[in-house]
Amino acid sequence: MTPAERIEDLRRQIRHHEERYYIHNAPEISDAEFDALMQELQRLETEHPDLVRSDSPTRRVGGRVEFGFASVEHAEPMLSLDNAFSEEELRAFDDRVRRGLGSGAPADVEYVAELKIDGASIALTYEHGTLVRGATRGDGSRGEDVTSNLRTVRAIPLRLPADAPERVEIRGEVFLPRKAFERTNAERQEAGEPAFANPRNAAAGALRNLDPGLVAQRGLSAFFYQLVGGNTVITHSETLERMKQWSLPVEPHWQVCSGVERLVAFCREWGERRRTLPFDTDGVVIKVNNLADRQVLGATTKWPRWATAFKFPAEQMTTRLRRIEVNVGRTGAVTPFAVLEPVFIAGSTVSMATLHNVEDLTRKDIREGDWVIVEKAGDVIPRVVGPVLSRRPPESAPWQMPTVCPRCGAQLHRPDNEVVWRCENNSCPARLQRGLEHFAARGAMNIEGLGESLIAQLIAGGLVTDYADLYSLDTSSIASLTATSLRSDGREIQRRVGDKNAEKVVAQITRSLSNDLWRLIYGLGIRHVGERAAQVLAEGFGSMQALEAATVEQLQSIPEVGPVLAESVRSWLDEPRNHQLIQRLRKKGVRMEMPPEARQTRAAPGPLSGKTYVITGTLLSMTREEATKAIEELGGRVSSSVSKKTTAAVVGAEAGSKADKARELGVPILDETAFQALVGSADTR
Ligand code: IVH
Repeated sequence: MTPAERIEDLRRQIRHHEERYYIHNAPEISDAEFDALMQELQRLETEHPDLVRSDSPTRRVGGRVEFGFASVEHAEPMLSLDNAFSEEELRAFDDRVRRGLGSGAPADVEYVAELKIDGASIALTYEHGTLVRGATRGDGSRGEDVTSNLRTVRAIPLRLPADAPERVEIRGEVFLPRKAFERTNAERQEAGEPAFANPRNAAAGALRNLDPGLVAQRGLSAFFYQLVGGNTVITHSETLERMKQWSLPVEPHWQVCSGVERLVAFCREWGERRRTLPFDTDGVVIKVNNLADRQVLGATTKWPRWATAFKFPAEQMTTRLRRIEVNVGRTGAVTPFAVLEPVFIAGSTVSMATLHNVEDLTRKDIREGDWVIVEKAGDVIPRVVGPVLSRRPPESAPWQMPTVCPRCGAQLHRPDNEVVWRCENNSCPARLQRGLEHFAARGAMNIEGLGESLIAQLIAGGLVTDYADLYSLDTSSIASLTATSLRSDGREIQRRVGDKNAEKVVAQITRSLSNDLWRLIYGLGIRHVGERAAQVLAEGFGSMQALEAATVEQLQSIPEVGPVLAESVRSWLDEPRNHQLIQRLRKKGVRMEMPPEARQTRAAPGPLSGKTYVITGTLLSMTREEATKAIEELGGRVSSSVSKKTTAAVVGAEAGSKADKARELGVPILDETAFQALVGSADTR
């Protein structure tokens, strides 16, 4: 066998096993055997770079995404679904369908019932059998090009078989299986980060991460339910069959149901059975099966008239509210939560629940000692719906928000037009604790072993008063601390950290010195700066120094950075103690720059700094690449989509919708001559 043949053979085998594993849930070989195939392919491709192809299974993870995601227009809008919250509403939907189909409609319309996947919708484009693009739904007409992230999802085939149409768009849902979701949340909670409220948020968040390597680790999966273009079938059930033949994952429990009573039965059945599934479903999607009938029924601007989503009712239970406690977050936000008499709801025992905010709590007059209704809806974090007034104990009294911080005793404040109370003491140990937990979290500086209990010890022992102190810690001072851990029987045990563990933590702290810049920016815990915003800022500025010098306007010139985020970053940086913190971290050797190779594509400062151009149509004197280079060399940016923030659109011959959009938004238009004058045409040749 030649290397080329062996490579092809390996790719075929790997694809086969990925399909067995991710689509049929029936692996034929062990993980180790699979890894061995992958390693052999990897080795052969390294030895024969000319044989590398972009649809090889080794290429699922590509390079980092620069400058966020390009915006893409969907060929056909990605519509949402109308909802039915009861069997009555489901019957009303069936009535509307039959009326819409007119006098020829059968008494029992044929529907397909599918489980509604709680994830984020996506559209994949395959050309000549190869996955060329994957996009999010966005606002329905424009989404984001997240191809590099979707390629990491192993349930998504990079190739379709030879009988697939030349060009086809496939729509479906990317989601986190329950185990992966729970793992993600457990990790986040352990690290002091807020848990994702539901799998949908977790999946959507992962899709928009700028680092495909991180996305690959999340454990996303996918199911598909719609074909756009290249479809010659006449019913939806045939579409589902065909997609399955193409090795696309299709949720297998769908059913053809004739007449509304069968639908009702399906919804009742899955209302019960859904907990047996390895992923979360929040309802049943009901679709008219015959595609010609769909045409007759049509759509509103928001949803098709031939489909609806039956939502499973939220599960509620009544229990006793033992106490209302408050939690102090790292930004100082003080939020109440309910400590409950443990109660079993929707598959798990609940002993704590959110109470939203003080306003909500007082409006509903929820009191300690009350019997309360607790709900777990599509959202996984349980919440207190309200009190059962008829069972209120006579001695109860309205709950009072504490006026001082329960941890440091500082007066609490509530800024005008905000609902949240805050502890404004920057040295509050509760804030430092949460701040350090966030700083060390896996998604931030990723310091393994530095968890809640060790941080508490470090603070109590006075060893750490800010993040920079971490970098002065030595093995012996950590080793003599006592860490508290929870035994399986619920009892706490105290143990000396010991030399071995201390060494590990110190090694982790040292390793974190050379983290990517965005991890530091995120770890600082600036309000409104999430993982993604941190990545955007790191790539937009390239160094902490540049970020520190940025004005609000410059911050806002970065795509996706809005006024609230820009203000928040600026005012955080303006705080002298934060400035000092950065200085101290710098002195300790924490990396404050993007690596040079990642920065090559970044705009160097120049006369066009902070300006964004869109190039559309054909330029006669230069190629697109040359034009882009010319703009970037002068410090400007080139974006693929027009928005109100676009400085100007460079419009060549035969320009299409982008030029129209620019005119519509009042964005200045530069023709080729004006553009040459701007960049100095002599320089670009
Ligand atoms: S069909 C035009 N089928 O639910 C019809 N959607 O609440 C397009 N969803 O935006 C949607 N499972 O993201 C369809 N089996 C399923 C689905 C499903 C989940 C999502 C989808 C849609 C949202 C509407």
